[in-house]
Amino acid sequence: MDIIRSADSMAEWSRKARLAGKTIGLVPTMGALHQGHISLINKARRENDLLVVSIFVNPLQFAPGEDYARYPRDEERDLSITGKAGADAVFTPDAGSFSEGEKTIISVPGMNKLLCGESRPTHFDGVTTVVAKLFNVTGANKAYFGEKDFQQLVIVKRMVSDLRIPVEVVGCPTIRESDGLAMSSRNRYLDADERIRGLSLRSGILEAQRMVKEGIREANKIEESVKKILNEANLTIDYVSICHPDTLNKIDHLDGPARILVAAKVGKTRLIDNDSV
Ligand code: PAJ
Repeated sequence: MDIIRSADSMAEWSRKARLAGKTIGLVPTMGALHQGHISLINKARRENDLLVVSIFVNPLQFAPGEDYARYPRDEERDLSITGKAGADAVFTPDAGSFSEGEKTIISVPGMNKLLCGESRPTHFDGVTTVVAKLFNVTGANKAYFGEKDFQQLVIVKRMVSDLRIPVEVVGCPTIRESDGLAMSSRNRYLDADERIRGLSLRSGILEAQRMVKEGIREANKIEESVKKILNEANLTIDYVSICHPDTLNKIDHLDGPARILVAAKVGKTRLIDNDSV
């Protein structure tokens, strides 16, 4: 497995691979790899000649006061995981060499201010800017993103479609702990009590699915029931919202494809989850 630390070396590696007629699969990550990331890596491994995993804690997507400085970093462990998973290359540039000094911002206006974008107004511009750059530098044919970060997946798909970026974005299902908590690098911030209270995001979503199955169609009614479950677990709700899965526009009456998205703070840790309803 090649460990590549500069954008120039990554671009050269991918140029050679493409010349040799190889397809490249990319899994962009910020490291602290867990089973959720590994599921993306395994799928990409199966579907491409060559597999590149990027590990880069992207400063552009953290606002001042967020957890950029304390975001978990464990390069040795991550490299061992990617090696075992059969990656051909890990692209892990230094923050200084990959994201400082640039002036261009890629933005998907509207979508970037909904849901998580309301409380994190600069977050998705940071994501799209770095992801576009990763696509360019790695020359990926296919790139793999988790449904866990559903808004991110939708926004990246929209960017790729609008800008005709020659990469196929592949969405992958959310991997959960055995009790239902969506795996996340941030779960390690939770103490034992918070960990249990955090499960209410999943319980809320399951309740929403149950209500829809029963025939309830008013989004508002469903959202209120989910909020009640989160409040009972003493979470600070950011949003509970039923949206169209392609546009993220709010849905009032459920009569077609719909997704429920939830964000809430447990203590200081902000958790998100979502599922179809
Ligand atoms: P990160 O949070 O490290 O996640 C990397 C990828 O793993 C994302 O596509 C995310 O949706 C996926 N993922 C995380 N937890 C998952 C789970 N439980 N099940 C399935 N997939 C999961 O998302 C980012 O990094 C960054 O924003 C990035 C795209 C790398 C840009 O900096």
